[in-house]
Amino acid sequence: MAPIIPMTFLAGASGRWRITRIAQHTGPSLPPAARLEVHPGHDRAAAAAAWALRGSTGHQRYVEQAEKRQLVAVQAGLERKEATCAALIPIRKSAAWWELAQDERRKIFEEVSRHTAASMKYLPAIARRLYHSRELGEPFDFLTWFEFAPEHAALFEELVGLLRATEEWTYVEREVDLRLTLEPEPAAP
Ligand code: HEM
Repeated sequence: MAPIIPMTFLAGASGRWRITRIAQHTGPSLPPAARLEVHPGHDRAAAAAAWALRGSTGHQRYVEQAEKRQLVAVQAGLERKEATCAALIPIRKSAAWWELAQDERRKIFEEVSRHTAASMKYLPAIARRLYHSRELGEPFDFLTWFEFAPEHAALFEELVGLLRATEEWTYVEREVDLRLTLEPEPAAP
């Protein structure tokens, strides 16, 4: 069983990642910030200069055995040396989504929207990790995190466009789209 990893995304004046864009996609955006740090655990949230979002990896809800095997065979891990670009896309789904039964959600997620099947071809260029936030009482249900090399930035845009056109996305009521680059903080004057 995969371990549960709690994580906090802290935005403010410092952090390894430089925030290059915070774009409001659906619903209210997040306050502007210059940099972001990703901290294991949840105890640093109060230290945020601008904002903090908490999430934890969790058990998979929709992936079936054959899909899991395929994913494991092609997916890349985080923190590859060449993956100096990242995206943080916090997402909240509507009450209508959460009122659906598990089988109805799986049907929309995969049989209709083909979330896993259609996204698979973007691996291993795009590395991903999904954090669950809803159970923590956070403003978003999910924090989705992606890492890729600069030459795959256009590929990532294509993937995001593809998913946003699906039926699954008609249930997304808040989505903010952050892009980041791994850059050392400028030395203090
Ligand atoms: C890199 C290619 C991608 C692959 C292979 C992929 C695959 C998956 C898989 C297998 C799950 C289901 C996990 C489970 O069973 O609980 C999932 C969930 C999710 N993914 Fe993706 N994904 C990709 C890209 C993206 C992108 C770009 C976004 C956001 C724009 C995104 C947003 C989400 C969200 C919000 C969920 C949670 C859905 C829910 O539980 O209702 N994914 N993804």
